[in-house]
Amino acid sequence: MNIHEPLQLPCGAILKNRLAKAAMTERYSEGNLKPNRKHFKLYEDWAKQGSGLLITGNVMLEKSHLESAGNVVMHESFLPELTKWAEAATSHGNHCWTQISHSGRQTSIFNNLRPVSASNVKLKKLGFFAKPRPLEVDEIQELIDKYADAAELSKRAGFTGIQIHAAHGYLISQFLSPITNKRTDKWGGSLENRTRFLFEIVKATRSRVGSDFPIGVKINSSDFQKGGFSEEDSLWVIRQLEKLGVDLLEISGGTYENAEFLLAENIRQSTKQREAYFLDFAEKVRKESSIPLMVTGGIRSLKFCNESLKDNLLDVVGIARPYLLYDDFASRFLAGELTPDAFSVRTGIKAFEDMAEAGFYNLQLDRLGTGKKIDKSYSPARSAFHLIKHEFVKALANKFAG
Ligand SMILES: Cc1cc2nc3c(=O)[nH]c(=O)nc-3n(C[C@H](O)[C@H](O)[C@H](O)COP(=O)(O)O)c2cc1C
Repeated sequence: MNIHEPLQLPCGAILKNRLAKAAMTERYSEGNLKPNRKHFKLYEDWAKQGSGLLITGNVMLEKSHLESAGNVVMHESFLPELTKWAEAATSHGNHCWTQISHSGRQTSIFNNLRPVSASNVKLKKLGFFAKPRPLEVDEIQELIDKYADAAELSKRAGFTGIQIHAAHGYLISQFLSPITNKRTDKWGGSLENRTRFLFEIVKATRSRVGSDFPIGVKINSSDFQKGGFSEEDSLWVIRQLEKLGVDLLEISGGTYENAEFLLAENIRQSTKQREAYFLDFAEKVRKESSIPLMVTGGIRSLKFCNESLKDNLLDVVGIARPYLLYDDFASRFLAGELTPDAFSVRTGIKAFEDMAEAGFYNLQLDRLGTGKKIDKSYSPARSAFHLIKHEFVKALANKFAG
């Protein structure tokens, strides 16, 4: 087994190889929250480079709950632009799936001063996030339908699958974690209740898109927070997702309060030495489930990918940041011509580390979307400042656009 071999998913769809570009929010949209020429250019280039699967940055269910002011929102009236995006993104026999998300309490105050969540637990992060209000029961049902609507819209636009974002502290993850889910109704309390929202979304989505359309789920191995969503919880959820016929499970970890998926500060040293941040957890998943498995976070060498595939530790290799560190990353990587150097963006100020990281990569995304080459010379301070300014200015543009 190696990275070039195809993979057939349970629904019957085939990925032409085992390399997936993991989701990276593009932050490209202007006030209208539609996909635009930058999306088309970037995804056409990435499709050409040969990855079997491209997962879009998270596309949002509601304009009142954006993860970034530059998100795309899934709206029926955007079908023409979504169709253009899907055409460009699937132009080389590859798959491209939308990553469907609702940010819940991880919506900045620039976007919403009263976001919703499972409960009213406020996110602690530099004062950028307001206290959420708990969703009403009928709103929960409406949101389940909206996930299914967004999946159906993705399919109609020509995307070849969808991924439900249940990781990184967004709304589904807020339901999963006992820290953020304090509900006492059937949507909170026991693990079975906390997982109901995710399972109902998967079921509603499947019934809407049919049995032959890929459904993926991205889930945390854990939140890396005391009393939060644990590895044991995650393993149980994964076994249920397999029974529900999920086609590809991606594992990651952390939330905005603890961005393990980017910084990997709490992950055991031995795991880091094994290159992939979540490989220890992947081994546990493998013992308990035969759900097709994508592992993302820290993977950099083709040798590691091929060995892990040969040892049957995973089915799909997820890589994100290297796509923004090298021009033509995927084609050179697949040809065995490139092993990315260790590269990180650090300000030295803990509260700003993930912002510098995200800002730096956002600058690269802007370059690629406008046909420019990668430029790694941006300083961490400039990168963090860029991100804050970008979010603030775009949020204002969104307000003016209504
Ligand atoms: C700029 C940037 C944006 C990201 N946006 C998303 C996103 O929209 N959805 C998501 O699930 N993960 C997102 N991630 C996390 C990546 O998918 C991935 O889990 C993480 O970068 C670790 O993989 P890597 O070490 O290969 O970069 C983002 C990461 C970066 C650097």
